[in-house]
Amino acid sequence: MTRRLPPGGLDPLTEAGHEIFEPGGDRSSTHDELVAAAPQADAIVCLLTDRIDEPVLAAGGSRLKVLATVAVGHDNIDLTAAAAHRVVVCNVPGVNDETVADTAFLLILAASRRVWEAEAGLRARRWPGWDVDQYLGRDVHGAVLGIVGFGSIGQAVARRATGFGMEVLHHTRTDTGLVGWRGDLDRLLAESDIVTLHVPLTQETRHLIDARRLALMKRDAVLVNTSRGPVVDEEALAAALEDGTIFAAGLDVYEREPEVHPRLLRAPNTVLYPHIGSASVATRTRMVRVAAENARAVLAGEPPKNPVTGG
Ligand code: DGY
Repeated sequence: MTRRLPPGGLDPLTEAGHEIFEPGGDRSSTHDELVAAAPQADAIVCLLTDRIDEPVLAAGGSRLKVLATVAVGHDNIDLTAAAAHRVVVCNVPGVNDETVADTAFLLILAASRRVWEAEAGLRARRWPGWDVDQYLGRDVHGAVLGIVGFGSIGQAVARRATGFGMEVLHHTRTDTGLVGWRGDLDRLLAESDIVTLHVPLTQETRHLIDARRLALMKRDAVLVNTSRGPVVDEEALAAALEDGTIFAAGLDVYEREPEVHPRLLRAPNTVLYPHIGSASVATRTRMVRVAAENARAVLAGEPPKNPVTGG
């Protein structure tokens, strides 16, 4: 384990008799610690903050059989190097869908209704009392929601949106055959009141939302990102919020975590969460358990449930 993980989650491995060691203890391992520890590991259970690259995989040698990440996203793992070293990579798809969709909706509501600004004003004792033009936001009910990426998390957000009486559009490259599909992302951005991102980080999705695309959005539009930070060009987003190209943004992920672009920290109508998309006790425990079960399966010579590569 690249750090100590919540109790119970690792039962599949301990019950199968495997020995657990955590070079990082209660904090994430450094890259040097991972390289040093890899030769003693048959399996590595890692987190999205661990960089698993050629030096770690080479250090693992022929002993290392499986990398099981406690995340859906696996952009921190060099899949090509893993394949070259014959290491199976597994993730935990489907486990955090509903919790991440809850977070996306939290950000949709919070950014649209300027919740952070209103609460900060109250806590700073700057609230003079109710007034007719105070903290006016945009309605979420009845708005057009554009969902970019329509995997299981995007679909879970769509189910919530239906309850809010929203019109739901979705963008994927291949036709879903469903009402609201937009093959043209630019068109979806221009038509939506609120846009929420649910794509993995790949070469194609890096800076998918850039200055040109932000300019296509409505001036009272809201952008929400719970996927991966680099999907949005943060410099361009900060500029769009500052000059009113769009109304608001709700972010849970950043280009260079844990750093947050200083202009975003100061930008108007911006709600910023510290990558808490899947952060419920039940979901995090399930994510660890599924990762542990994937690792156990590979070590037992069984096909893992969630191979990304090599399964
Ligand atoms: C994931 O699973 O990729 C999430 O970012 C973790 O919360």
